[in-house]
Amino acid sequence: MSSNDSGSNEINRRDFLGFLGSSAAISTGLGGALTLLSSCRTGPTNPSPGSPARPPREYKKLTWAPMSPSAEDQLLLASGLTYSMIAKFRDPIGQNLEFGSHSDFTSFLPLDGKQDEGLLWVNHEYLNPLFSSGLQWRKPGAIRTKTQVDTEMKDVGGSIIHIKKVNQKWELVKDSKHNARFDANTEFDLISESPIANSKKAYGTVANCAGGLTPWNHFLTCEENFDMFFSDLEWKDGKYQQTFPNRDYMWHKYYPRSPFHYGWVVEINPKTKKGKKLTALGRFAHEGATCVLAKDGRTVVYMGDDSQDECIYKFIADKPGTLETGTLYVADTKNGKWLSLTMQSRPEFKKFFKDQTELLINTRVAAHMVGGTKHDRPEDVEINPINNDVIVALTNNKKAGRPHGSLLKIVEKNGDFLSTEFAASTWISGGEDSVLSCPDNMVFDKNGNLWVTTDRSDSEMNEGIYKNHKNNGLYFIPAKGEYAGHIFQVASAPTDAELTGPSFSPDGKTLFLCVQHPGDQSKSMDELTSTWPDGIKNGKPQMPRSAVVAIQGPLLEQLVNS
Ligand code: FEO
Ligand code: CA
Ligand code: CA
Repeated sequence: MSSNDSGSNEINRRDFLGFLGSSAAISTGLGGALTLLSSCRTGPTNPSPGSPARPPREYKKLTWAPMSPSAEDQLLLASGLTYSMIAKFRDPIGQNLEFGSHSDFTSFLPLDGKQDEGLLWVNHEYLNPLFSSGLQWRKPGAIRTKTQVDTEMKDVGGSIIHIKKVNQKWELVKDSKHNARFDANTEFDLISESPIANSKKAYGTVANCAGGLTPWNHFLTCEENFDMFFSDLEWKDGKYQQTFPNRDYMWHKYYPRSPFHYGWVVEINPKTKKGKKLTALGRFAHEGATCVLAKDGRTVVYMGDDSQDECIYKFIADKPGTLETGTLYVADTKNGKWLSLTMQSRPEFKKFFKDQTELLINTRVAAHMVGGTKHDRPEDVEINPINNDVIVALTNNKKAGRPHGSLLKIVEKNGDFLSTEFAASTWISGGEDSVLSCPDNMVFDKNGNLWVTTDRSDSEMNEGIYKNHKNNGLYFIPAKGEYAGHIFQVASAPTDAELTGPSFSPDGKTLFLCVQHPGDQSKSMDELTSTWPDGIKNGKPQMPRSAVVAIQGPLLEQLVNS
């Protein structure tokens, strides 16, 4: 898109974009002008803070022992669970490649139909400069060199790693031809109606938070807080101008790329190791992209936009076997309607957007215009395999007075994923007195039990309203029985860390899980807040590393089959 456009609609379009100011472009903050759009509203389904999810009684009928919160610098598991390390930051994975930083979403694909051998996709969402390039970023005046940027650019994106079970333990197959890295310099096709910044190619994928798996076994990896890497653009004084988030890697100083090439869902073919950015699924702070097959064979994708007061989306593909074209909808949870975001769906869109590509670049603007409901940081969306309930993790919204978040339940009309009508209600509220606070990533097991991780910020953990919850964790919510809907802790993360990307092996006997950003509050290498996973060797505290682990054990099978 060019700022030199002209045409009869141009004055309206420019006025509109100028009026919207910072909200015309994606940013992790909320453009102040959006509050002026009368069609925006806060949904009725947000919980009141502190509502208890666990009744004050003992679990006398439990046959296992849930954990209590912990502040230990360890990956602790409930008795009956064990973990093995698969790969950690900077581990060699063959072909002169290294495993990336800040591991997140995982997805396992069996190789040749085997249960015990396959390809694991792992996202690398971001990095800690101290551990990646050595930049003393917490010291005032720290300035990155180009060499440091080049180092950091290799640490993000995603990995494909070949893993297999040896003596019942999962291991990385180090020199497998399947292993691959996708980083901030990988070339991707841009699948869009019009070129974006004069290009149909994009270089690099960043901010890869959660993701999904297509019915044709391609991985989806989602670009979330992309503005940290190459900044963003906002419309001001008749042209787009660069904006910067608070925490900024400043890569654009050496690599000035269009921010419009980021903020998309990226599809990865594990066989060819090629990827493409799917603009039809919109541009925003994409958390994940959870796929489900509709009754006519097309794919439906559910997505959250992880920012305070942002929306929930659904994409319905035009035809089976592809996500390149289709219709994007935003949820109006007040009225239970999916509202389409196409140039044809609203006459006013034609005044504001040159074409569908420009609308998609500015998805948030279009979503707010039609009345998409603002929510409390919509993160992961997962679909219950037993009853088709669509569950959305709403992590928190501190400025709205809901710092503990909740789980939202969406029930599509007639259980049809193609429906444009649904019912929405709060399923479980987080709270200071609840076991649950700040839900983020989730996975249903094959029997409809939900496994949820939390994302209490490393700068606030163990303090104030989050003191009771201690370190982040993994929690189990049974689908049935005496304690259906109750919340039990089954893992506790090391210091400063978040547990991310839970996914099951097809037989349900292994839960893959990432430990992300242990020790990220460290001020320097001499003041490490965590030494996970390597501890202290020869008296020297070891640098903390994000990692992916495999959780197994009799308790896992008991809980999945409970
Ligand atoms: Fe990257 Fe929304 O967590
Ligand atoms: Ca996340
Ligand atoms: Ca998160």
